[in-house]
Amino acid sequence: MIYLKTPEEIEKIKEAALLLSRTFGKIAECVAPGVSTRQIDNVAHDYIQSNGAIPSCLGYNGFPGVCCMEVNEVVVHGFPSGYLLREGDIIGVDCVLELDGWNADMCYTFAVGDVSDEVMSLCRTTKESLMAGIAACRAGHRLGDISNAVQTYCEKRGYSVVREMCGHGIGKKMHEEPEVPNYGRRGTGPVVRNGMVIAIEPMINMGSRNVVIERDGWTCRTRDRRPSAHYEHTVAIVDGETRVLTTFDYIEEALGDRFI
Ligand code: MF3
Ligand code: CO
Repeated sequence: MIYLKTPEEIEKIKEAALLLSRTFGKIAECVAPGVSTRQIDNVAHDYIQSNGAIPSCLGYNGFPGVCCMEVNEVVVHGFPSGYLLREGDIIGVDCVLELDGWNADMCYTFAVGDVSDEVMSLCRTTKESLMAGIAACRAGHRLGDISNAVQTYCEKRGYSVVREMCGHGIGKKMHEEPEVPNYGRRGTGPVVRNGMVIAIEPMINMGSRNVVIERDGWTCRTRDRRPSAHYEHTVAIVDGETRVLTTFDYIEEALGDRFI
């Protein structure tokens, strides 16, 4: 069952998305060599709580963090830990918050200091594929058009698309129907319509698409241990228009010329 939202409800999700986007500005200020992923998680936790919101991931099926921390070969769902970021790492931070009963979801992969050109182009392509997916998200189109746009963009450039995890509907719950895969055929799947709110989140690997789950039951990494990148926006369809509710603007503001 896909819950369509009223314009008023979408305004509420937009407020959650704005706070989440600002949280990422704080996170961006904090990412640097020598910083632990737990420190970053604490910064996000403090900011979310002090603004009257709830960190949706914390305690979700027992997840032990406010954010998922995705260092290098970690695709999704890594735990915050004492790991100290190193020059040359990439770290995807994936966070969901709930404000006044409504959720927003966002992810950004940051470069830690100087990162190799090869890895930077993986990140850039993944981010661009999110934009390609959003461009394909239009009232009257099908979800498969979004999926296909992401897949084609990445595979043409030699990268592979993780199949096991998908984007999703979002609203009162952080995961709602429909699933939004990052691979698929045009003209298939549910029709994109007014009131839909979805999180689009390409998870793209430099090497093979295969992943494994670590023994902690959560941490998902590439089987070949080559790097993976992940970007995510929460998007709504209102009056036939596609609105991106989250924004990377606060990250850009924090990173200045280090923003890619
Ligand atoms: N954005 C992630 C997702 O859609 C959030 C996962 S939160 C967790 O799967 F608690 F499940 F880790
Ligand atoms: Co998500």
